Amino acid sequence: MIGKLNHIAIAVPDIDKAITLYREVLGGDVSDIVDLPKHGVRVAFVNLSNSKIELLYPLGDHSPIAKFLEKNPTGGMHHICYEVDDIIKARDHLLGKGMRILGSEQPEIGAHEKPVLFLHPKDFCGTLIELEQI
Ligand code: CO
Repeated sequence: MIGKLNHIAIAVPDIDKAITLYREVLGGDVSDIVDLPKHGVRVAFVNLSNSKIELLYPLGDHSPIAKFLEKNPTGGMHHICYEVDDIIKARDHLLGKGMRILGSEQPEIGAHEKPVLFLHPKDFCGTLIELEQI
């Protein structure tokens, strides 16, 4: 069911520092900062030849990242995103296996303008998983 790794998202307490780290120290190809107010995040992308890293920083008062950084003040891996061909099929398959989908169980348009779902980390080895329909 799952296809390629689309991205790994890392929550960071200081996005400028994180960009400098990935650009100057690791020599990565890092995008400019993009604000996504609808998602409550400020993001920069590290473009790898086979995937992407998203550096996530909270934006606004109700950012899903703020709570995570409270618990992980130095930052940390926030989620992994796998690609799927058909997100409704994937959702129904997972629900049939007793897995929990976060929120309304309806796909929402994610940060890349594609439908996404998030799966409960407790069902997946403690890792928050995002599925994105490509
Ligand atoms: Co993501």
